[in-house]
Amino acid sequence: MPLLADAPTAPTRGTLDAATAAARNGDVHAWVEAVAALTQPRAVVWCDGSDVERRALVAQMVRTGTLLPLDPDLRPGSYLARSDPADVARVESRTFICSPDQRDAGPTNNWREPGAMRDELDGVFTGAMRGRTMYVVPFSMGPVGGPLSQLGVQVTDSPYVVVSMGVMTRVGSDVLDLVEAGAPFVPAVHSVGMPLRDEAGDEIDDVPWPCSSTKYIAHFPESREIWSFGSGYGGNALLGKKCFALRIASVMGRDEGWLAEHMLLVRLTSPQGRRYHVAAAFPSACGKTNLAMLRPTLPGWTVETIGDDIAWLRPGPDGELRAINPEAGFFGVAPGTGEATNPAAVEMLARDTIFTNVALTPEGDVWWEGLTETPPAHLTDWRGRPWVPGSEEPAAHPNSRFTVAAERCPSIAAGWDDPEGVVLDAIVFGGRRATNVPLVAQAESWEHGVFMGATISSERTAAAEGVVGELRRDPFAMLPFCGYDMADHWAHWLRVGASLDRARRPLVFQVNWFRRDDEGRFLWPGFGENSRVLAWIVDQVDRARGLRTDVGAVASPVGLLPAPGALETRGLDLDDATLARLFAVDAGSWQLETDLTEEFFATFGDRVPQALRDRLARLREALGTPG
Ligand code: PEP
Ligand code: NA
Ligand code: MN
Repeated sequence: MPLLADAPTAPTRGTLDAATAAARNGDVHAWVEAVAALTQPRAVVWCDGSDVERRALVAQMVRTGTLLPLDPDLRPGSYLARSDPADVARVESRTFICSPDQRDAGPTNNWREPGAMRDELDGVFTGAMRGRTMYVVPFSMGPVGGPLSQLGVQVTDSPYVVVSMGVMTRVGSDVLDLVEAGAPFVPAVHSVGMPLRDEAGDEIDDVPWPCSSTKYIAHFPESREIWSFGSGYGGNALLGKKCFALRIASVMGRDEGWLAEHMLLVRLTSPQGRRYHVAAAFPSACGKTNLAMLRPTLPGWTVETIGDDIAWLRPGPDGELRAINPEAGFFGVAPGTGEATNPAAVEMLARDTIFTNVALTPEGDVWWEGLTETPPAHLTDWRGRPWVPGSEEPAAHPNSRFTVAAERCPSIAAGWDDPEGVVLDAIVFGGRRATNVPLVAQAESWEHGVFMGATISSERTAAAEGVVGELRRDPFAMLPFCGYDMADHWAHWLRVGASLDRARRPLVFQVNWFRRDDEGRFLWPGFGENSRVLAWIVDQVDRARGLRTDVGAVASPVGLLPAPGALETRGLDLDDATLARLFAVDAGSWQLETDLTEEFFATFGDRVPQALRDRLARLREALGTPG
């Protein structure tokens, strides 16, 4: 049961610096007291992550209108939340990396001088929780006490955030016990930024989705602190996820020799019963959740899910690279999730799910674009307005989400939460490219693999074959998530690779499901058929280990491509010309792309590792002089 402490009685208001000082001392109770003195809630509740606690918070949110219960026969244990229409996504423009030296944030992050940011935050957090309850949520990223795991404590004035954190992380008194015993924790403070009393003490009416037009998602890499203000939305408010498990953890990894990555994690089992583990980085909205839950079309193969968004990678005792999914649930995009694209997810969402900003059916079930081919005749859209097919706006917000426990996933791998993690066999980098990038290519070396990760990009337009469209760069799919200089991240990858046993080091690949023909049609069917590409990838792992002696790959300027016949295409409606286009390397178009890569590298100045500059030079040489 939650412990209800007395409202803080501190006569003088607290300061943000006092909270930081307590956190630095590692004293969780002093820290919570200091945050309460700053934010002035009416009560403090220490959460234990129990089912009793969850039920009480859900009941409270149903009363206040934050959660709408769905029909228990159609969608048992499930709820719909409708956010403020202005609080529907991560706000990168208000996301800050506050390293003492601006150069350590790098050119791709918003930087603020820590002292200046502390002053601003001190202003907005003062009295921010007046009239609200402050919840203290002790959580673990990764199994509690595991060798790859990390602890955090989030303070929040949002019950929606408490319940969501209970799904997405491991919340419990066992975590608090460790923290009280002196284990290091990441202090994370969150407020929706809408107090229920003004400075004079007069009451302000609550709303179902409180938030503020002022937003801060601030990270202090040196003190490992997170301060988030003004939003209740996932990536801004569930601070274990992007803020901790990527931005802060990437800095921890830099300092401690490991990697925090925006990667899914899967186990493949071959028809021979051999098991492989693959991590894959894709920018947001490239189908990571679909790939993580893929149902293979190739007979005899299985794909099991370990994670769909974040992986922590750490060199193991024998020179292998181990990986865990630090999360305990999925916070996925609903639109586009349907029987055809992700049947496992559809099954997973049948119960015990919190939906945010999807549409509501008259029967009390949910719907979103892509769930079924034909929309229901009548819906209530994500803003609560009547909707009929043909309405101008989509029924569900394009970034509407589901929040569900990993255990609910029908394809979850046995031992997915093993504290020791899994040994990685392959790492995959992907983008959404209409041109140039082949369906799959293997890096010639670890350094080449880091080059592939550093040059991940997507094209907005369905550019004609051979003509590179406008490239949006998203190195390592970490552009919004790296807590330090991106080029330093590349150097760190080179260092981690060098620390691994060469024979056990994962092989690195680049994939592109999105290449198009001149008419803008996709060349590759994707979804379950992507299992064919995964099968070739792990066949290459077998060949590298001497478990197969047939020729699997041929050299090309951009990496090793499947040898004729090595990629299983039987049963696909794919003619030879289409197959050739999927792997075509057009020297002129690639030369143009190397120019763009040079410009991109130049934005990082002298922090780009020499090995990557060398790789670019080699690519140019291999392409030959155009014309
Ligand atoms: C998020 O916005 O919280 C999130 C998970 O982001 P994305 O899906 O873009 O990775
Ligand atoms: Na988002
Ligand atoms: Mn993501």
